[in-house]
Amino acid sequence: MRRKIVAGNWKMNYDLSETESFLSSFKEQVRPEDVEVMIAPAFTNLNHAFKSLRDHDVKVVAQNMHQCESGAYTGEISAKMLLSVGVKSVILGHSERREYFNETNKTLAEKVETALKHEMAIIFCVGEEEDKRDNGTYFDFVKKQLSEGLFHISKEDWKSVIVAYEPIWAIGTGKTASPEQVQEMHEFIRNTIQNDFSEGVAEGVPILYGGSVKPDNAKEIFSKEDVDGGLIGGASLEVESFMKIINAFK
Ligand code: G3P
Repeated sequence: MRRKIVAGNWKMNYDLSETESFLSSFKEQVRPEDVEVMIAPAFTNLNHAFKSLRDHDVKVVAQNMHQCESGAYTGEISAKMLLSVGVKSVILGHSERREYFNETNKTLAEKVETALKHEMAIIFCVGEEEDKRDNGTYFDFVKKQLSEGLFHISKEDWKSVIVAYEPIWAIGTGKTASPEQVQEMHEFIRNTIQNDFSEGVAEGVPILYGGSVKPDNAKEIFSKEDVDGGLIGGASLEVESFMKIINAFK
């Protein structure tokens, strides 16, 4: 039985007081039970969120980290800094970082290496732009992201890895991939992991879907065989909608 996970990626939203007002309401309602719940606030809110949620079985996740241990990288955050504020999980390779901050598969492979060296859990994001969906090269594109960014790890490392499929054309657009499109890509990702590693490894990797998941479409998406949960953007910023998506797994 694979893990079931719902993670909220808050992106660049909420200052400390907004974070506190969300969390004070959320932690009174959330009952993770058989669904793992995670929240990825901005760097400045990580420690507050960690302290606020540690007794509520909700994991706090960073939205990024640098691949180097320390040094002259103005504005960056290291693995050691994240661990020092209680954060042991990190999202890597989100399409917005790939696009706006020029993160390549090579850079991401280095970030993956550093995160695993520090025994951090990783949510590794992959997903194609609309043109690749339209011209039918989306499988090749995602396979390249996996093989160049993630597949250098060992079989043992996979216990620390979650994969998130986020078709770029569905992120923040309200245009959700159909449950069939989601299942097709998730099955492809799982088969690709199986071919390069083993069936046992592939069966154990949670694969999340992200891209305009909402309370009214979550249940059908989560019901697909190779979908193990969601990485939620906009709908995770409101307690009510995020709770509805979490409860869609029940
Ligand atoms: O990382 C999750 C995010 O990219 C999805 O955003 O707003 O389409 O749920 P959204």
